[in-house]
Amino acid sequence: MSAIIIDGKQVAADIRAELKAKVEKLKATAGVTPGLAVVLVGDDPASKSYVTAKEKACAEIGLFSDDNRLPADCSQESLLQLIDRLNHDPRIHGILVQLPLPKHIDETQVIMAIDPAKDVDGFHPVNVGRMVIGEKAFLPCTPHGVLQLLQRSGIKTAGAHAVIVGRSNIVGKPLANLLLQKTAAGNATVTVCHTGTRDLVHFTRQADIVIAAAGRPNTITADMIRPGAAVIDVGVNRVEDPQAPRGYRLVGDVDFEAVRAKASFLTPVPGGVGPMTITMLLHNTVQAASEAR
Ligand code: GUN
Repeated sequence: MSAIIIDGKQVAADIRAELKAKVEKLKATAGVTPGLAVVLVGDDPASKSYVTAKEKACAEIGLFSDDNRLPADCSQESLLQLIDRLNHDPRIHGILVQLPLPKHIDETQVIMAIDPAKDVDGFHPVNVGRMVIGEKAFLPCTPHGVLQLLQRSGIKTAGAHAVIVGRSNIVGKPLANLLLQKTAAGNATVTVCHTGTRDLVHFTRQADIVIAAAGRPNTITADMIRPGAAVIDVGVNRVEDPQAPRGYRLVGDVDFEAVRAKASFLTPVPGGVGPMTITMLLHNTVQAASEAR
């Protein structure tokens, strides 16, 4: 078997076209231009490139984006003041604070300072809690993007056994919750594995859907996959490569070529989940603007 490679760029482009039409309608009928404030603290190269990509994506579908950069040694107080200003700015419907933050800043405090109605990352405890009980909430972008990829690729989750490898607050935990909700995009039996799991392969081999979100190259090898399983690779890892123009290349958590020969569906890195994360951020910002009081 050779897996169907899921084209995340294409799925993302389809959704962005849908969003662009919504933005035009919102502008024409309500006079509202959805606005996203992006906050970057410090100059971590990976974070910088994510932030640039987010701002470019905003422009492409007609959103207003407001770029806010603070030095790595800024005080927590100055960051909280900026968030307070953005919470009260009527041009801003969504606030995104790029993570991780420098060590001297308390990430939880910062996330809790964002108005839940502008929390387009879906990280505020109010949105996390609403998601868990199945109420309307901003869904975190990467898990929501994974659900969209599964749905739009025709991969059935209802009754399937989904095994998630990774338990982060950003991916593993929310994804587990979304997949077990009694909804069209969920209704799966979910197992969450992590660095404390004994005999990881015992679990992954039982999976109809494997979601790799461990943040380590080659975490998922072909022997760990049941023939015909669908494999979604959330990993984004930089590995040194002197041949590559930038001296590194991006790889996921999955041994791509070997797993491709065994799986039914597989997402590439780059070009799989990555473009979906930004797309769902745009989706949440448009949602926030259409619900703004
Ligand atoms: N860092 C890595 N992923 C994310 C994300 O989805 N949102 C934010 N704000 N920071 C991140």
